[in-house]
Amino acid sequence: MSLLSWIDERFPATKVWNEHLAQYYAPKNFNFWYFFGSLAMLVLVSQILTGVWLAMNYKPDAELAFGSVEYIMRDVNWGWLIRYMHSTGASAFFIVIYLHMFRGLIYGSYRQPRELLWIIGVIIYVLMMATAFMGYLLPWGQMSFWGAQVIVNLFSAVPFVGEELGIWIRGDYVISDVTLNRFFALHFLLPFLLVAVVFIHIVALHKVGSNNPDGIEIKKGPKGNKWSDTAPADGIPFHPYYSVKDIAGVVGFLFLFALAMFFAPEMGGYFLEAPNFEPANPMKTPEHIAPVWYFTPFYAILRAIPSIGGSAFPGVVAMGAAIVVFFFLPWLDRSPVKSIRYKGLVFKVWIGIFVVVFFVLGYLGVQPSTPAKTLLAQICTALYFAFFLLMPIYSKMDKTKPVPERVTK
Ligand code: HEM
Repeated sequence: MSLLSWIDERFPATKVWNEHLAQYYAPKNFNFWYFFGSLAMLVLVSQILTGVWLAMNYKPDAELAFGSVEYIMRDVNWGWLIRYMHSTGASAFFIVIYLHMFRGLIYGSYRQPRELLWIIGVIIYVLMMATAFMGYLLPWGQMSFWGAQVIVNLFSAVPFVGEELGIWIRGDYVISDVTLNRFFALHFLLPFLLVAVVFIHIVALHKVGSNNPDGIEIKKGPKGNKWSDTAPADGIPFHPYYSVKDIAGVVGFLFLFALAMFFAPEMGGYFLEAPNFEPANPMKTPEHIAPVWYFTPFYAILRAIPSIGGSAFPGVVAMGAAIVVFFFLPWLDRSPVKSIRYKGLVFKVWIGIFVVVFFVLGYLGVQPSTPAKTLLAQICTALYFAFFLLMPIYSKMDKTKPVPERVTK
């Protein structure tokens, strides 16, 4: 008896391999946009590995944290590499995920029967933001400290329970050693929760099958291809076809990642902000506090909304709503077609507006606010929400093109 059959009698190794790889039939017309799911998995693994190795020399103590990061950068063998892989990796993760989500947006991958797959994705996105936010406190630089101060203070804006909530999150009246310690514990834990949720994401994906650039359900089309009589005619085995295609994506990604990591790890202050090279000083507020780029669109929305009676709560609600609205996308889109290929001009213009607005808000979020910039942020915030909330109307009235019977290219 071979080793494999010995294992198969005790564990479904071959069964799982076939069902999810060798005999998993994915649409044959995947394009560039389908690289980012596997790349997100790669970056997640890289973040966990480099994170665990950083933790071997990092000290979650307000007296020692900043120095321990400097020690990793200068004295630990290859410490600089591990640290830059992790810090560049955080930004790379969000770039990859924004592209992954954008793919979902243009091909209608959130629509029936993939609503739950999409919702699980949004949960992943929220978990990623929490993880990144807590990770940013750990170097205990000026921006770590003051960024956390600003964001945790937002929770204090919640009516009635705010004050208590802020203290509960910090474990103290101000961001302190206690906060640093718990953020470290959670920053270590959350990525493993992410792995679990990503697993569920893939389980959901394999239940419904992938969408594709045409937005056509291949499972509903004709059956039978050269591998199987029962598989969708427009499907090809994930392995070896897409496993090999994904390797091409990995090579391209690693090339760009290495360029950033070796030549521009700070990326002009976008990946690592200048004030964070100064140790945290509770007595000195930096001149201008801005979160890392991947949070800035939401930060701009927060600042765009005027406070009422000195309370920033309306801004906090708007910022939260800007994220929560993604959960509802499957029910907001009423177009008879899924993919942008067959949608009309109205939808394309709105997606264009959304992308521009997202970038403009992202830019405004790193800038000190002026009256003109606040006005621009308010207009962009209105357009951001209009994209989602008017979708039931414009997606329905849009003039769509006929969808072909079978997938094209
Ligand atoms: C750690 C983060 C994530 C990982 C590792 C991940 C992984 C994957 C993988 C491997 C696929 C299949 C390959 C592909 O379609 O590219 C996929 C598909 C998908 N993901 Fe994610 N994902 C993540 C986050 C998200 C987020 C944040 C969303 C949305 C908010 C999302 C929504 C989707 C959707 C809708 C599909 C199906 C796309 C289609 O078939 O057209 N994912 N994901």
